[in-house]
Amino acid sequence: MARQLFLHPVLLAAACLLVSVVLCNAGVAQAAWWWPRWDSLFPSRGQQQHHGGYDYHDNGDGSSKSRVASIVTQELYGEMFKHKDDAACPAHGFYTYASFLAAAARFPEFGGDGDLATRKREVAAFLAQVSHETTGGWATAPDGPFAWGLCFKEEITPPIDYCDASSTQWPCVAGKSYHGRGPIQLSWNFNYGPAGQALGFDGLGSPDVVAADPEVAFKTALWFWMTPRAPKPSCHDVMVGRYRPSAADVAANRTAGYGLTTNIINGGIECGKSGVPQVDDRIGFFREYCKLLRVDVGTNLDCAQQQPYSS
Ligand SMILES: *[C@@H]1O[C@H](CO)[C@@H](O)[C@H](O)[C@H]1NC(C)=O
Repeated sequence: MARQLFLHPVLLAAACLLVSVVLCNAGVAQAAWWWPRWDSLFPSRGQQQHHGGYDYHDNGDGSSKSRVASIVTQELYGEMFKHKDDAACPAHGFYTYASFLAAAARFPEFGGDGDLATRKREVAAFLAQVSHETTGGWATAPDGPFAWGLCFKEEITPPIDYCDASSTQWPCVAGKSYHGRGPIQLSWNFNYGPAGQALGFDGLGSPDVVAADPEVAFKTALWFWMTPRAPKPSCHDVMVGRYRPSAADVAANRTAGYGLTTNIINGGIECGKSGVPQVDDRIGFFREYCKLLRVDVGTNLDCAQQQPYSS
């Protein structure tokens, strides 16, 4: 059961949500958005006016050196992640614009596939999903709940080492912990191993690098985004229209759209039912970023009516 879940911290967060806010939240970086105590870190902040659309220059002809850079300018990056460098965010100073672009250059098809609207929507979807995983926001946060993506770089006080000893292909190294790190909160030895192999670092021996080097951190998130894991398609293929549903996908109503990326990331916990707060948070970030990028959100934003992937 645990092996089908990419993001164990999210599973834990969901369990905490059901059981107790106080008992588990310290171990779950991504759960900060519903953490009431978080408010007390910002006692005197006032609400600020929310920003609407944003003007930018885009080289739709591909003349720009980086296609992602033409979609998300440095200024827009700052608009999206308004509070990532606040002193209260554990990741302050970590997730630089340069590191995002350097990681994106390793995956040229990210934000580089399809027409301009498709490319923008994919980038918005990726940044929305990683924002949910790393958010420090809450309902009444300054600038709203969706101005707090990229606030965490590492799971706080992980309760376990996330070592699945049954994964003989990716054996854990003694003394190393495979807890959530980076924008997608990469977790478990069976994810650190292949991520490191694909990206050229020792994922099993040096998992700490994911929370120490922002370029590696973003690369692990993009690796997850770009890589299919049967029977799951890649999030990239879903967002650029390359997804071809199998008969099982059709029977499970797994239709393309942002909601399907949520299903790929954490469907076992969040999909096939309605009223899931994590899903609303993911969608909220996506709407916000699509607005800033001036692109429509497309269809099938949630995953309430699609079944999760089975093992
Ligand atoms: C499939 O999902 C769509 C929304 O994405 C919904 O309108 C439709 O009713 C669902 N179909 C089934 C059979 O559940």
